[in-house]
Amino acid sequence: MKEDIRTSRLLKQISKIAKSPVLEASAMPPQVYHSEDFFKLEKEQLFARDWICVGREDNTRAPGDFLTWKLGDQPIFAIRGEDSTLRAFSNVCLHRMMPLLEGTGNSKTIVCPYHAWTYGNDGSLRNAPLIEKKVQAHLKRKRLPRIRLEIWKGWIYVTLNKDAKSVASQLEKLEPVVSPYQMENYVSVVHRDYTWQTNWKLLVENFMEGYHLPVVHNKTVGRWFPSKKTKFPRQRCNSFTYQTFIKDETALYGGAHKKNKKLRGIQRHTSIMPTIFPSHMYVLAPDHLWYLTLNPINLGEVKIRFGLSLAPEVNQSLKNNSSFVSDMDDFFEKVNAEDKKIVEALFESTSSLLAAPGPLSWLEREIHDFIVYLSKRLNRRTFEGSNQ
Ligand code: FES
Ligand SMILES: [Fe+2]
Repeated sequence: MKEDIRTSRLLKQISKIAKSPVLEASAMPPQVYHSEDFFKLEKEQLFARDWICVGREDNTRAPGDFLTWKLGDQPIFAIRGEDSTLRAFSNVCLHRMMPLLEGTGNSKTIVCPYHAWTYGNDGSLRNAPLIEKKVQAHLKRKRLPRIRLEIWKGWIYVTLNKDAKSVASQLEKLEPVVSPYQMENYVSVVHRDYTWQTNWKLLVENFMEGYHLPVVHNKTVGRWFPSKKTKFPRQRCNSFTYQTFIKDETALYGGAHKKNKKLRGIQRHTSIMPTIFPSHMYVLAPDHLWYLTLNPINLGEVKIRFGLSLAPEVNQSLKNNSSFVSDMDDFFEKVNAEDKKIVEALFESTSSLLAAPGPLSWLEREIHDFIVYLSKRLNRRTFEGSNQ
């Protein structure tokens, strides 16, 4: 009961910040990063209801390639079928509910690690050893529950929400912004998972703002950003936000390859940085794409799926430059390490008694967009009836 009162107080505070003009807004109260009840609400209202990105499609090319994830408390997996279709299923065995698959990999059939019930990669139950013959006949018709899955420009999104509007319609206004880059053709060269000790929202907020770049990343990406040239969309959208920024000519990564004929003028040095709420973030540059998608494990722990992809002309030009990818990977590992240090420290300091939120800079405008999104989705009264 006490928790309920605390959560509704937090929701009111967030809603007040969401309603204030961007330039008068403050950061969120520190308790939103430390309340179990608030986290439970996030799992139910965000992660079990919105479209969640689980990775790039080109990482699951071959039949049997799979990846796993959790949507709120629901474990799921996506697997490429023999017919080349990617499908998602509940990752819970139909016998005594053991998780079936772990991590990522390739598996032609799915064998439960508990009593070896076996499933095809179309979700059908193929074998249930030592079960009564009569029951077997009935089980033959069983399938793992299917989860909605859509591909949008190379991204795999899944949702438990049967009523959610399609990804394409939710991202309709982002489409013309990213389409000149043709990111669906970018080639995945690095992908891996990490676990960081922080609240997932601290990581989202950190990613969305360029305010910290010249400070935290002054030895890496922060060197290349003329911060004042950062731009935000005029209109706010319910499902995503983004900024565009320019990297100067000295940038190691971020400029169009000479064989790139799609982008012109300043676009050849411009990157788009969308955040698809709640937890999918990427930098789309003329030459590369780097992304994070988050799977909160608990209040202070988050699994991060991280990846780098290259524009096709960059990838083709690599034949004689084998160290390009490993150098780039090392570079972005440094950037990630710089952020890790910050967001893990923030998780500690936001739990302190005297922690209090301060005003946001105009460069943190997307944090305000995120607060508006959270306020809408987490307030059940306003959420009900809206799939946007
Ligand atoms: S729980 Fe899967 S086979 Fe028993
Ligand atoms: Fe950063």
